[in-house]
Order: sequence, then C-alpha cells, then structure tokens
Amino acid sequence: MSDRSGVDAERLRRELGDRWARVTVVEESPSTNAVLLEDSSAPDRTVLLAELQTAGRGRLDRTWTSPRGAGLTLSVLLRPPVPLPVWGWLPLLAGVALHEAVVSATGVPAGLKWPNDLLAGPELRKAAGILAQSSGDVAVIGIGLNVSTTADELPVPTATSLALAGADEVDRTELAVAILRRLDARAAQWADVGGDAEACGLAAAYRDACRTLGSDVRVTLGDGDALEGRAVGIDGTGRLLVRTAAGERTVGAGDVEHVRASR
Ligand code: BTN
Repeated sequence: MSDRSGVDAERLRRELGDRWARVTVVEESPSTNAVLLEDSSAPDRTVLLAELQTAGRGRLDRTWTSPRGAGLTLSVLLRPPVPLPVWGWLPLLAGVALHEAVVSATGVPAGLKWPNDLLAGPELRKAAGILAQSSGDVAVIGIGLNVSTTADELPVPTATSLALAGADEVDRTELAVAILRRLDARAAQWADVGGDAEACGLAAAYRDACRTLGSDVRVTLGDGDALEGRAVGIDGTGRLLVRTAAGERTVGAGDVEHVRASR
C-alpha cells in the first residue's frame, strides 16, 4: 500500500528546480484553493499542498474530502499572460497535465471526463477532480487526487483511487513532481502561442484523452435544466459542444454523465 507519511517538501522543491516560484507543504489547510485566492501578492507559479483539507471545495458548489495523506491535495496559482476569453482552456489544460502525469507515473488506464475529471481503472471511475477559479489576473487551479484511498474511505462508492485502479505503490512526492512538471510545461507552451490551444497541441492532446467526446451524454446545467445528446467537440474557449435533437448546444459549465461511452 502507498505510504501515507508526508510529502517530502525539500525533495519536491529540489526536483522542481526554479520553475515554481514558491512551493509550500502544510499539514492542514481549510482549502488550498481558497488560501491561494486570498493571497493577492503571491507570485506566478505558487504551489500550496496540504496533507488534509478541512473545507475542501469541489466544482458546482460541491465539497471535496480526502483522508489525511491518502491523496494529493494541491493548488497552483498562475498569472496567465494570455487573453481572458481563452482562460476557459485552463481547467482542460490542467486535466491534460494530470492525465499525462498519472499515466506516465503509474501506468493505470485513465481518461478525462469533460471538463477535467480524471477517470481511472478498468471501469474508468473518478479518481481526481480539478477546480479552477479566477480573480483578476490570477487563476488558481486545485487538484484533488485519490491515491491510496480505500473503498471504505471513498466519499461516494462510484469513485476510485489509484490504489483501487491497480497502482498500489505510489510515491506521492514523485507523483506531485510529475504533475507540477507537466502543468508547468503545458502552461508554458500554451502561453508561448498566446493561449491558442490548437497551435500548441493542447486541444489535440485533450481530444485524445477525453472519453466524453463521441459519447452520448446527459448534462445537468447550473440552473438544474438537463440536456441529452452526443458530445461532438470542444470550442475555441474549452466549452463542450453537444448535438441534441433540437440542434447543437454549447455547454460552459455542467455535470456530465456518460450515458453510452465512445470507447
Ligand atoms: C471536483 O471534482 O469537484 C473538483 C475537486 C477539486 C478538489 C481540489 S483539492 C485541492 C483544491 N482545494 C480545494 O478546496 N479544492 C481543490
């Protein structure tokens, strides 16, 4: 079973080198996203990792819970030098980076559910969620990844962890390094082309990892309305395109359920 002793902050900083401006590991935080969002003077590429969150937040006003040391719970603060309209790609960019890091570090089968849930294991259940928030010129991206979480500890029985998906000897420090390296690389490539997701290969990588595209989906929208159809694409700002009986709909936020998977 993966070790639940603390993430090694010194090793994390050493292996990341100078690409990340400030890397902090704490025993406990209410919510690493909330703390970074309140830190208005934090430099671009600040990282906060907590062994336990006491008020972890999820997408769509949900909560995120994980036993101490059982997962990776971290947020990064970025100041993306790209036009605001394309910031919609950031949550997807984070999903691509997380997917790349998890697959290369553990070899578990994995995919993404739009916008950025990481699905893992033979049944492709949710192993990680990402919450991207912004304030002014700051974007905070929070990742919650179940690593050694047991079936009894899962917040919902439909979720999973890397251990349950077959990777039961994960070094959390090494995995955090891999995630932050991929995140840095993807963010730098994206910024270099002014946030053009097609030009930097981000859109192609996302389409490749995304199990939602080509699937029949039911989407519950923020206002409680739902729509059903085939997920057919991602637009220039990261929104999901769904072909419904009434025509094509563009979804910016919502809870997607795969009714019939594409592959
Ligand atoms: C979701 O699937 O709903 C997104 C979950 C995001 C959880 C992470 S854990 C680190 C960061 N801090 C938070 O409060 N939330 C995010």
